[in-house]
Amino acid sequence: MTDLSTLKSECAGAIEAATDLAALEVARVAALGKKGKVTGLLKTLGGLPEGERREFGARINTLKDELEELIAARRAAIEAKDLDARLAFERADVTLSPRPEQTGALHPITRTIAEICNLFAQMGFKVAEGPHIEDDALNFTALNMPPDHPARQMQDTFYLEGMGSGVEGMGSETGQSDPEPPAQNPKPYVLRTHTSPVQVRAMLKEKPPLRVLAPGRVFRCDSDQTHAPMFHQVEGLVVDEATHMGHLKGTLADFMRAYFNAPNLKLRFRPSYFPFTEPSAEVDIGCDRSDGGLKICEGEDWLEVLGCGMVHPKVLQNCGVDPARYQGYAFGMGVERLAMLKYGIPDLRTFFEADLRWLRHYGFSVLDQ
Ligand code: DAH
Repeated sequence: MTDLSTLKSECAGAIEAATDLAALEVARVAALGKKGKVTGLLKTLGGLPEGERREFGARINTLKDELEELIAARRAAIEAKDLDARLAFERADVTLSPRPEQTGALHPITRTIAEICNLFAQMGFKVAEGPHIEDDALNFTALNMPPDHPARQMQDTFYLEGMGSGVEGMGSETGQSDPEPPAQNPKPYVLRTHTSPVQVRAMLKEKPPLRVLAPGRVFRCDSDQTHAPMFHQVEGLVVDEATHMGHLKGTLADFMRAYFNAPNLKLRFRPSYFPFTEPSAEVDIGCDRSDGGLKICEGEDWLEVLGCGMVHPKVLQNCGVDPARYQGYAFGMGVERLAMLKYGIPDLRTFFEADLRWLRHYGFSVLDQ
């Protein structure tokens, strides 16, 4: 009869000697595989006398169990060793900068728009966008500025020649009596002069309640020290069933104080006129000009920062919102102005000169909070 303890030490030796999973598998098959030594022994059981068979069978099974345990322990040891080796080899140095090669910077406008959006997002506004080339009907008519409305003159519009007709159901009459462009060549498309048409788009697209913020580029045919033909605005719109001027004031005060990081910043709402709001107001913030410079929040002076008001019932109606049931407020602010005030940038024109030295000075790291 085979000496089981010799067999056991033979098989165990092969298992212990295995240094990787492939060698361990060879040792396992040699002992416990179909043609393995232990399996071979089991096949001899049938030839043994009745009395020995039971006892020998039990010993072989015990041996099988022991070898299986040894194999499992060896496998665990090999896997642990492999993992250690990988961890040592693949180790990452977390102290290294993830972008050591970064040399670019965020433009202050990009940064300011992100800041504004973040603050309003905390108040439940969602960001919406509209096209730069806008239908005259949405840029003006829907906002209560029909073609002959004098307020159109306030915005030096870039008209686009030779583009298709207006948006369906709106502005079919656009351009007919407008002094600019001539009647025989209506030009229903403009470079949008403000972000207010995004309010119209928002109302046409979704039913109230609405809380929308629309940042983006706008264009006016105007260029001097304080005006650029392209600049940026952020428009806000809230429409709901019990919206009033108090909500508008609270929202803008919270925003301005958070944006300028000045909890005591003073705000003044001055009556004004916009065709798309009634009543309308311009908002000034407190500042100090006494030493020739400009400091936000201190002193007795005022600085205008934005326009706002309750959405005109005609605008709601033009956009399919029932003015008997809903009211809304809206506001529009210039991004360059807010960036200049916060970051002490003195000249509007420098924003778009693409001067690398300027950008290195006023730009922001993408990793800045
Ligand atoms: N669209 C105006 C402009 O460009 C700014 C503005 C004023 C927007 C009042 C508004 C508003 O939504 O209520 O001058």
